Amino acid sequence: MTESSQTRETFRVLALGGDHIGPEVVAAGLDVLRHIANLSGIDVEIDEDLLGGASFDVHGTFCTDAVLEKARAADATLVGAVGGPEWDGLRLDGPVTQSDGLTRLRVELDVYNALRPARAWSKIPDRTPFRPEIIDGADLLVVRENSGGIYYGEPRGRELLADGQERAFEISEYRTGEIERIARCAFEAARTRRGKLASLDKSNVMESGKLWRETVERIGQQDYPDIELTHLLMDHALYAVTMAPRNYDVLLADNLFGDLISDMTGAIAGSLGMLPSATLPAATIKGQRIRGGIYEPTHGSAPDIAGKGIANPVGTILSVGMMLQYGLGRPDLADAIEAAVETVVDDGVLTPDLGGIATTAEVTAAVMDALSNSET
Ligand code: IPM
Ligand code: MG
Repeated sequence: MTESSQTRETFRVLALGGDHIGPEVVAAGLDVLRHIANLSGIDVEIDEDLLGGASFDVHGTFCTDAVLEKARAADATLVGAVGGPEWDGLRLDGPVTQSDGLTRLRVELDVYNALRPARAWSKIPDRTPFRPEIIDGADLLVVRENSGGIYYGEPRGRELLADGQERAFEISEYRTGEIERIARCAFEAARTRRGKLASLDKSNVMESGKLWRETVERIGQQDYPDIELTHLLMDHALYAVTMAPRNYDVLLADNLFGDLISDMTGAIAGSLGMLPSATLPAATIKGQRIRGGIYEPTHGSAPDIAGKGIANPVGTILSVGMMLQYGLGRPDLADAIEAAVETVVDDGVLTPDLGGIATTAEVTAAVMDALSNSET
């Protein structure tokens, strides 16, 4: 973690804790960020603000224009988790961006490339439903299209029918260009990994799925003949990846299917709390920095354990690693953070979701210690 002249400028981070355990894990992530910045001689400037229900309660909106502007101006945005039963019941008309601050942020920043890695950790196999011989060495990357599809297709809504029933609807819609750009993200990611890409769709029943498959296939043939491309139907993919996760490398999926399978991969990691993500406005190309990404753990706001100090901070800490890798162009720091987490896991410093008794603060302190020790 040596200083490099190119990182002497100030790295500006907007931190949005969100709801329930969100602020707890973001505090942990920021501790690690400040610590590694100190160790590596990086200047970080951190601004904190509200998102989700916490924003609604103060401002009457789940993501204010001011927060949007701050996110646009920041080098990177760190998000905890949003939502909870307090706000789920609110019926706000209009697009989902009106009732969910995180989706508004994603759409406005046009972060379409969601990278959600998941790996097996050798010292916690008994926390997963898998036998070690099935998952040892499993290492997946879900590439999720994150700004289109059924989340945002128009029209959507609810209406009262003449017979007294209600009808609720949304549409799954993709344009060629949207599929092309996320396909390129997945192929590029596969090039930096083991060169294998599985694209998931429901092309047997969905028109958007047919266009998805044709487009991914065409981009692969044209520009990525070096990548081994397969197509799987989404339902079968859940089965096939669960049965033999080590057969897979990069998994490409649309917004909804990517949401589903990325939670599933939490089982491979032993807990959803272990999963980080980076959601970016561009493909990751080696050596290139990407401004304006959103970094967040894949898990939700977990109201049931909020305020107890026991949330697993690892997903957020690893998200800070991804932030340094892509936002600052320092993959070495992401590697250092992952190695520190590995040490902590191996030492058995685990939160209750992994069967341990450590608190959020203890795991965070242990990660920082491991980072300091790796300096020497
Ligand atoms: C995720 C979450 C979000 C999503 C919610 C909170 C809107 O589940 O980031 O995976 O559905 O995208
Ligand atoms: Mg999700």
